[in-house]
Amino acid sequence: MIDVHCHILPGVDDGPKTLEDSLEMIKIAYEDNITDVIATPHINHPFQFPGEANSNNQFQLLKEKAIQLYPDVTLHLGSEIYITPSFLIDIKENLTTLSDSSYILIEFARETLGTAILDAVHELKLKGYRPVVAHIEMYSDVVARPYIVKEIRKSGGYIQITASSLLGKHGKEISGFIKTLLADKDIDFIASDGHSVYSRRPVLSHAYEYIEDKYSKEEADRLFITNPKHILDNKELAINVIEREQKKKSKLLFPVIAAVLALGILSLGMTNQFNSADARALIKAEANKSESLSHNSEDISEQESKDENLYTKNLQSEDETSLISANGNKTSESGQDISKNSDSRNVSAKYRSQLESLQSQTEGQLASLVQEIDYIKNTTNDEVERKSKIDAKLDEIGNLENKTENKVYSILYDMQNELEKEGLDVSEVQTLRDEYHQIKSQRTDKYINQLQN
Ligand SMILES: [Fe+2]
Repeated sequence: MIDVHCHILPGVDDGPKTLEDSLEMIKIAYEDNITDVIATPHINHPFQFPGEANSNNQFQLLKEKAIQLYPDVTLHLGSEIYITPSFLIDIKENLTTLSDSSYILIEFARETLGTAILDAVHELKLKGYRPVVAHIEMYSDVVARPYIVKEIRKSGGYIQITASSLLGKHGKEISGFIKTLLADKDIDFIASDGHSVYSRRPVLSHAYEYIEDKYSKEEADRLFITNPKHILDNKELAINVIEREQKKKSKLLFPVIAAVLALGILSLGMTNQFNSADARALIKAEANKSESLSHNSEDISEQESKDENLYTKNLQSEDETSLISANGNKTSESGQDISKNSDSRNVSAKYRSQLESLQSQTEGQLASLVQEIDYIKNTTNDEVERKSKIDAKLDEIGNLENKTENKVYSILYDMQNELEKEGLDVSEVQTLRDEYHQIKSQRTDKYINQLQN
């Protein structure tokens, strides 16, 4: 099997920190019958990992060591590129593609609309790339409107899902969505998106067996071997899209909310390239796109046009509110500054406290999971049973970290939106994001230490 998405390079992103851990991940992959791993460090990620600068060196270092220890596993260099509007405007010529092919692995803010993903695919295709959308199941707008996946594939985009999502680790809604895609062969790659030895490990065999069992060996080979081989050989992988009549229409309101959130995260990754006027124009554009996409379908519900009216009214009242607040502002400039600083502090304090309570909740849950692992270690004598029980707990830890991260993002988007809406300084969002990153890293060190003892 070939793993086309794995964070395996030491010390470049949120993957393994040490060379030893990277080598341990290769060992896990080797024991799982994985023959090739494409290392995909995050690039342009809002967390600003150092991967971009260090990935070449770290790749060479790991490859040299790995060849001696695990000659049957071949490492390839790639990247996972976080796409923002500004990044698309200024696409560099020398992006790190997957194994030096024309395929690139791309990711987005989780709240990004399916239509925005589609746009990015168009843009990247025009630049000569073959875009592979990483973990498509993690975008809630796409999960709500799966037909967009067909649009993405018709535009030349490829679809990757994560093995653990297939196995139900992210809930029933996501595994149901994946089954919908599998039914029409709308998935091109299944990868591990491995991050560490302890959770989110580079393992594909369980997912392969699932596909073999529920579908066929041919389908499993297609997803885990022959399709990925097209990347390694830099050969074009034909995309066949089975057309279906669109049954259900989602209401327009959800995409609008998602657009607002998406703008929050998109602006997080950029240097204030979008002001609120641009933001409103973008929301309108996104809403129009959703609308035109819906008009292609045969059944446009009355409810939707009501939602559209509601949306337009909301925009109008938003315009009116900002106009009123602009006209009604009679305070002196210095008084205004003081009051703005104090407003900004109040907003920051509110979100800081939300983040703190989330952190302590996560820490409590992690502590009990670590205790449960300890208990299993001490009470389960059968080695196979012990390993399987511990594996299940490690998966729970991985899921908990994922969920926490999504919630943190969501809180930060809300904060960014609120500050922008009030015309306040947004720099505190960056500070809180950096703090979260540090806390997460310390927390991970702590529980890994506990697990190793
Ligand atoms: Fe990833």
